[in-house]
Amino acid sequence: MILIENVRLIDNYKSEVDILIEKDRIIKIGKNLKDNNLKKDCTIIDGKNKIATPGLVNTHTHIPMTLFRGVADDIPLMEWLNNHIWKMEAKLTGEIVYWGTLLGCIEMIKSGTTTFNDMYFFIDDIIKATEESGLRATLSYGMIDLFDEEKREKELKESERVIKKIISLNNPKIKPSLGPHAPYTCSKELLTETKEMAKKYNVPIHIHMNETIDEVKKVKEMTDKLPFEYLHSIGFFDGTKCICAHCVHLSDEEINIIKNNNIGVSHNPISNLKLGSGIAPIPKLLKNNIVVSLGTDGCGSNNNLNLYEEIKLSSILHKGVSLNPTVVDSNTSFKMATENGAKLLGFKSGVIKEGYLADIVLIDLKKPYLIPNENIKSHLVYSFNGSVDTVIVGGEILLNEGNLTKLDEDKVYRMAEKCYRKLVDW
Ligand code: NI
Repeated sequence: MILIENVRLIDNYKSEVDILIEKDRIIKIGKNLKDNNLKKDCTIIDGKNKIATPGLVNTHTHIPMTLFRGVADDIPLMEWLNNHIWKMEAKLTGEIVYWGTLLGCIEMIKSGTTTFNDMYFFIDDIIKATEESGLRATLSYGMIDLFDEEKREKELKESERVIKKIISLNNPKIKPSLGPHAPYTCSKELLTETKEMAKKYNVPIHIHMNETIDEVKKVKEMTDKLPFEYLHSIGFFDGTKCICAHCVHLSDEEINIIKNNNIGVSHNPISNLKLGSGIAPIPKLLKNNIVVSLGTDGCGSNNNLNLYEEIKLSSILHKGVSLNPTVVDSNTSFKMATENGAKLLGFKSGVIKEGYLADIVLIDLKKPYLIPNENIKSHLVYSFNGSVDTVIVGGEILLNEGNLTKLDEDKVYRMAEKCYRKLVDW
């Protein structure tokens, strides 16, 4: 049991309340909860001068790519993938992925992210590190068959193994999903079989869509259809729940497909800008009531996992592009990073409410960029740098007044440096 005393809530920051947590849930929010027969082992957290916010949800990333931070900046996506990323990825081992994942987990915890949606390989090591970190996650094995039948069978087999393994862990914080990389790297057969497997195990699908103009053209050449039209034509969205990362270049017809098939979008503005991919039509998607969430993408193209940067950018970028300061207001961008992300991943979190998962972040209000202590949501969106004080995930304290409780920070940094050397020495 945890009691957070005298804390302010983001939507009602003028008065202080207590938040009572039992097991993994928020069971009560109110005044003077200390009087309520607390259990002897109840941990008391002083929330004075702090704001309690829901933990952020990063809906698109490749966590172990923390080790690729800064290795190949300022080049086009295909060159970035072919000449750098895929070369380094060929040198990865389970051990390297494990330490890269822990590094990413520390970065997320310290910037207020409590849940992430990942697609990568060496998934056993990602699962192990994620469990050790205490974070909540949806994990998928990234499948690429490059239209090769033998490879396809291997990829599907590995995905099914991973799904079964995650289910058998029986860890409510970790859920499986399916991760076909993209329509230009996966065959029609792989995509169709992925859909069937998603239905069989009732798991979501996490896929890259319409990230660059070149890739959209490639799919058009291959199939005579735009990517969403193509997937729609093969029944990919029938009975499945899809989270589509990027969605930068979309036709009106494709936006209709997204809207009518209950597809969720993960907006990754920093990665899209850095790789020169373009700017997703977010105001248009929001107008169509499409659920948009936020993602960082991997650290090779961002170069960090601080979702607060995406929150600010998603608000200001679309104002500038549309010459309209009213679009993507602070409520909207904050909701994309919390409630919407949780909804897409199927976790009952993203808001601080009784009955919801206790994924709570405390932020110290005695910081120059948060003063005056008024209009707190505006500060968090437009002024905050992501440096948080305390992080609780599923009723477990992962960061206590700036100190990690479960992970050995120095060891992770040391091992991450070592692993990086192994990757660049070619
Ligand atoms: Ni990605």
